[in-house]
Amino acid sequence: MSAGKKLRLGVNIDHVATVRNARGGAYPDPLRAARLAQEAGADGITAHLREDRRHISDADIDGLMEVLTVPLNFEMAATEEMQRIALRHKPHAVCIVPEKREERTTEGGLEVAREENRLAHFIAPLREAGCRVSIFIAADKRQIEAAHRIGAEVIELHTGAYCDAHAEGHVEARDRELAALREMSAYAHSLGLEVHAGHGLNYETVQPVAAFPEVMELNIGHFLIGESIFRGLGPAIAEMRRLMDEARG
Ligand code: PXP
Repeated sequence: MSAGKKLRLGVNIDHVATVRNARGGAYPDPLRAARLAQEAGADGITAHLREDRRHISDADIDGLMEVLTVPLNFEMAATEEMQRIALRHKPHAVCIVPEKREERTTEGGLEVAREENRLAHFIAPLREAGCRVSIFIAADKRQIEAAHRIGAEVIELHTGAYCDAHAEGHVEARDRELAALREMSAYAHSLGLEVHAGHGLNYETVQPVAAFPEVMELNIGHFLIGESIFRGLGPAIAEMRRLMDEARG
């Protein structure tokens, strides 16, 4: 894998399901959103099947596996139940994320270093099944090295702290977080890991991260689904794509 190639955009459709589930019916349909996202230039679709099924459902994953023409990035916690589901579907990519029931969203990265043995055993069958295993972690050398040791092919760096600092107007903290993301992207790449990034990205925060040559994929959800209320999903994605391409030069 070489740095600097075209940056892929993975569109996370979880929050279409959040809106659907608010009324308990079938509308709006995340599969329809996924098809639209594909047509608008998404290079992949990301969906997180949470243990509590608060947004994406098992049936959504069945449907996505059937209808998608772009790769599915299946986000899941490192539990036996999720491993069984992933092994049944064999999606293109599996992204292992930490999950706490009480959290509103995935708040931090995975503690790989503390759970190295368990995670190495957990991801081995997924890799054998042909899934690209990605580990969602903070921009932290210890976690990157542990992800590398357990045999992950990909890491996804958590951009949440950078985006939060930007939203709160904390310029120094934002720049510090961005510098850590830049340095750790380069470090992970030097170990042979493919680098992805995501969480909380929007039109204001995407370009500095998109400009890192080692980053090969961004996964973006909440902002795009929110923005689609105002301009439609296709145009919201197209604008994100344009900003990413511009940043990439
Ligand atoms: N990447 C990962 C691993 C995530 O867990 C999420 C949120 O589900 C995202 C990217 C997308 O974050 P956001 O919805 O804030 O754009």
